[in-house]
Amino acid sequence: MADDKGFTLWFTGLSGAGKTTITNELVKELLGRGSKLEVLDGDVVRENLSKGLGFSKEDRDTNVRRIAFVANLLSRNGVPVITAAISPYRAIRDEARQMMDGRFIEVFAKASVETCEQRDVKGLYAKARSGEIKEFTGVSDPYEEPENPEIVVETENQGPEESAKQIIDYLEDKGFISKS
Ligand SMILES: Nc1ncnc2c1ncn2[C@@H]1O[C@H](COP(=O)(O)OP(=O)(O)OP(=O)(O)O)[C@@H](O)[C@H]1O
Ligand SMILES: [Mg+2]
Repeated sequence: MADDKGFTLWFTGLSGAGKTTITNELVKELLGRGSKLEVLDGDVVRENLSKGLGFSKEDRDTNVRRIAFVANLLSRNGVPVITAAISPYRAIRDEARQMMDGRFIEVFAKASVETCEQRDVKGLYAKARSGEIKEFTGVSDPYEEPENPEIVVETENQGPEESAKQIIDYLEDKGFISKS
């Protein structure tokens, strides 16, 4: 049954690192347990909440601050949230952490640029290399790795189900969800 404990699983990582894929696994698992849950995926947010924003540092920061604002509203009311946006800048992620102190769980989806580029799920790396897309994280724009994330999922060395299980185990161990 639902635990009514709010928390925010805050994914960060390069495009293609696996944020959305692992989120989908977590959604299945958590909803299956009867949990409330909301997802703020970068691609979806940019189509509505952040429509019109671009990829300058200022716009990226605004986008991430909006995601943090909504994640805070939900999680402080007992609704678990998963955010799945690149969120490349450490300082803004740390703002989100401060805002949601005690219920903010940073999850680093770790994969090298080379791996993500080989995967090139959306064909974006090719466009970034050709110059068709400017300011592409990991290629022509910065990505600041987290220094002390609560969880690191090594998506080069494990499958999405395994990464999801690692996260569920963490949530259980820390008492955010009850053991199944
Ligand atoms: N362990 C893993 N975890 C997640 N994805 C994996 C893993 N191993 C391989 N993949 C593959 O890597 C790709 C990850 O793409 P995904 O869309 O989830 O990335 P993303 O981080 O959401 O990127 P974006 O920031 O562009 O939305 C998928 O094709 C997925 O099948
Ligand atoms: Mg995604």
